[in-house]
Amino acid sequence: MSNPEKKAKIAVTDTAYEELNRMNLAGWLDYHQREVVFDRVSWMGIPTWKNVMDLWVYQELLYRVQPDLVIEMGSFKGGSTLYLAQILELIGRGEVISVDIDHSRFEAQHSRIGLLTGSTRDEAVFRELQRRAAGRRVLIIHDADHRRDTVLADLETYADLVSRDSYFIVEDGVVDLFPPDTLLGGALGGPGPLPAIREFLARDKRFVIDRECQRYHLTYNPDGFLKKIAD
Ligand SMILES: C[S@@+](CC[C@H](N)C(=O)[O-])C[C@H]1O[C@@H](n2cnc3c(N)ncnc32)[C@H](O)[C@@H]1O
Repeated sequence: MSNPEKKAKIAVTDTAYEELNRMNLAGWLDYHQREVVFDRVSWMGIPTWKNVMDLWVYQELLYRVQPDLVIEMGSFKGGSTLYLAQILELIGRGEVISVDIDHSRFEAQHSRIGLLTGSTRDEAVFRELQRRAAGRRVLIIHDADHRRDTVLADLETYADLVSRDSYFIVEDGVVDLFPPDTLLGGALGGPGPLPAIREFLARDKRFVIDRECQRYHLTYNPDGFLKKIAD
């Protein structure tokens, strides 16, 4: 961020919007986690556990990459799955395969959506995704088990499936930015995606962080937009 001292002097004068003077970016993320994300975000009526600033970036990446296959890890009720499918519909190509250990809550329906029920850690799930990804332009969004060891294992297992110039998006590293006694920092009860990303990138030089995807600052995926720059 440029010139924070100058920015600190900027304040709204309308007293009805005094909250804007009190809340900083960290405060906004805490507010969003506390009061918004779990029950006040939806896409086409289906609950969607996303910071919508990130969804705009997803739209930009989908248009740029034009994937044949989006692998979504973590479906929940399918709001994000339907969002991805409808963006693909607008683009005119591609499908979403959404993986979850439990699809009993899934509400979305769209011809571009396919479901795969099982854990990202299951060998059979990996083999099926590997089969479907073969020869296709693939982008992966990880929004499943966010604990450090699982994220690292998923990154290492699935990195080969991501196409060159496409992305492996790792969600919710925001939890690692906050101390453990806060809502976000205590969400997992231990380390989450961010240390997994850092360990992965230290070993796998095919991926780099695309920080342009974080230019709105209010992201749940700090250092989580991983672009594959080499095969
Ligand atoms: C954060 S929610 C997904 C939210 C959804 N993508 C959205 O934006 O609305 C995480 C989901 O991951 C699933 N999950 C947890 N561990 C998993 C694993 N190892 N493999 C696949 N899915 C898993 C959970 O059942 C849950 O539905």
